[in-house]
Amino acid sequence: MEVEKRFKELKLFIADHLDLLNLEVLEHYPVIPKPYESWVDEINHFTSRELIELENGQINDLDLAQEFKTFLFKCRELSTLPKANLSSHPIPKHHLRKMTEKKRHEISLLMDQLKFDKKIFDLGSGAGHLSGVLLEGNQKQSLCVDQDPALQEIGKKKLEHLKSRLKFKALKFNRDTSALTSTDYTLLGLHSCGELSLDMMRYGVRHHHKKIVSYGCCYHKLNCLNFSGAQDLELSNHALTMAAKSYKKMTEKEFIQRESVKRYRYTLHFIMRDHLGLSFRTLGNGMKADYKGKFAEYCHKFVSETKRLSASELEQMYLTYRNEYERFLRFGIIRSCLSRPLEVYLNLDRCLYLIKNGFKIEVQEVFDRSLSPRNISIVAHLEES
Ligand SMILES: C[S@@+](CC[C@H](N)C(=O)[O-])C[C@H]1O[C@@H](n2cnc3c(N)ncnc32)[C@H](O)[C@@H]1O
Repeated sequence: MEVEKRFKELKLFIADHLDLLNLEVLEHYPVIPKPYESWVDEINHFTSRELIELENGQINDLDLAQEFKTFLFKCRELSTLPKANLSSHPIPKHHLRKMTEKKRHEISLLMDQLKFDKKIFDLGSGAGHLSGVLLEGNQKQSLCVDQDPALQEIGKKKLEHLKSRLKFKALKFNRDTSALTSTDYTLLGLHSCGELSLDMMRYGVRHHHKKIVSYGCCYHKLNCLNFSGAQDLELSNHALTMAAKSYKKMTEKEFIQRESVKRYRYTLHFIMRDHLGLSFRTLGNGMKADYKGKFAEYCHKFVSETKRLSASELEQMYLTYRNEYERFLRFGIIRSCLSRPLEVYLNLDRCLYLIKNGFKIEVQEVFDRSLSPRNISIVAHLEES
């Protein structure tokens, strides 16, 4: 894949839809801007199953007008990355206890991806589960760094038998940290949140590390949005949050659960604007029970101004706003189609930074998205000068 070409194509495409990405759909209420308004109309009759397919990018069989279809195919085309050809290795039994299916899946593939790496600097290691498995049955070494000392203590206890080769260091890492004396460590960041991925790359560049392996996540925690010097789109925190949640495969059960949350949230916002003169604001996360109880109770709990309306008025409004809710739900699904292109774009910005600094890079999709959607791997090798 030609990184720079794809990056430029993504930039142009995202720029065309920047307002859609940057604003929460509710911030547009009551207007759905063009051309999305007509796309919402096109999918107004869609069943839940069809909406789920659309959200999951299964778009081949959907009956849609050309402009909308072109948008969806572009989202897919521009976010498609080469799939890694890795074998899944068995994880030794004693490591499996309490390990989630997601972690097992990731680690079993990373065992293949890192099979020739003898020294690993595991950044944002958590309790060191990954390093622990990577060091079994060989002479590899790892230094696990995490800012959370409690997690490290758990790791130290669990991985006591590897203590001569597996070290833990509790510190908040940044680009200026002097943590290693040797540069023959592979820098590894598995889901190193936000800025940590960037600091790992800056550190690798500064100290001439030969290899960097990075899986990004939590893009909304980034401080620097123009890493390579070529990323000049103004991206909001809403957009970055969406990128951090992208590519998750929606199931019917999750779709239905999300419906109840969204219907309450959206309807409350419509009422706040139309009946109370309040503008959009983030309401914070409710608990499951909040969305199962009476709508009026939910309103009174989250927005005290709604107490100016009686419970029966609020319940009546809940019913009246059904169509509006359906339209904004669909608008949100259209918006979500941009989340993976944005994630790929942010990762290519990282690739451009590494290329500019003398690395040869490989960017691939590694994990199965239904188990681990933050599955973009950047592997960078310092080119011999
Ligand atoms: C999403 S978790 C990933 C943990 C582990 N790599 C995994 O994949 O299971 C991110 C970890 O990075 C750590 N972290 C975030 N920023 C850090 C920093 N600046 N320095 C050290 N650790 C950091 C957090 O404490 C957390 O344990």
